[in-house]
Amino acid sequence: IRDDAEAASLYVANYIIDRIKHYSPTPAHPFVLGLPTGSSPLGVYRILVERYKAGEISFENVVTFNMDEYIGIPRDHPESYHSFMWKHFFSHVNIHPSRVHILDGNAPDLEAECVGYEAKIRAAGGIDLFLAGIGEDGHIAFNEPGSSLASRTRVKTLAYDTILANSRFFGNDLTQVPRMALTVGVQTVLEAREVIAIILGARKALALQRCVEQGVNHMWTLSALQLHPHPMIVCDEDATLEL
Ligand code: GLP
Repeated sequence: IRDDAEAASLYVANYIIDRIKHYSPTPAHPFVLGLPTGSSPLGVYRILVERYKAGEISFENVVTFNMDEYIGIPRDHPESYHSFMWKHFFSHVNIHPSRVHILDGNAPDLEAECVGYEAKIRAAGGIDLFLAGIGEDGHIAFNEPGSSLASRTRVKTLAYDTILANSRFFGNDLTQVPRMALTVGVQTVLEAREVIAIILGARKALALQRCVEQGVNHMWTLSALQLHPHPMIVCDEDATLEL
């Protein structure tokens, strides 16, 4: 628990930098980082970019896999997760585009896209560290309430609450928010060697309480982290209101 969002973001950014450095990645054995979108990780990305520009960290031997992507909006739509990631992170650091993986929500065969994504994660040696945000309903990636805790990468219909929450990025116009997404599954996240969830603000307080003080529950999918050997939640004071 850190005082505010900035301190929580700093902790997570430092942790990721330490992990990459400790691992000493090489071209043959890159560090495999799972990444989220949303407002919660923005501070982390900003700090990672600053540290890269200061010469303190290199992403040359880092491979990334993003958690999710909308279905049905063009890749270059300003709110696509492709656009988000390039705008806030990838364009500013020395990561090679061939090492960036983001699900393609416009793939002609979405099921094949999901199966192929899992295969790419396996081929990369599995994810070393998965960073996640959460939804107000406790979802991790787009694993909405009711998702199987054994789920893998797949097509998911978004919950009304998520559509409502994300409408702020689409001019508060519910009709513009995609109804479906591709997402890694709960099990895909659990297979990462380490998982960090960054949880900021009072609007996440109920979800945090449900996920850490109650049992493992497919209605609050972040609670599956209770089953992980190396999970970490980094939150600000505001997110702890219900604990
Ligand atoms: C979307 C993403 C999630 C993210 C969530 C929270 O639903 N698919 O991965 O955790 O938004 O976003 P924010 O951090 O803006 O609250």
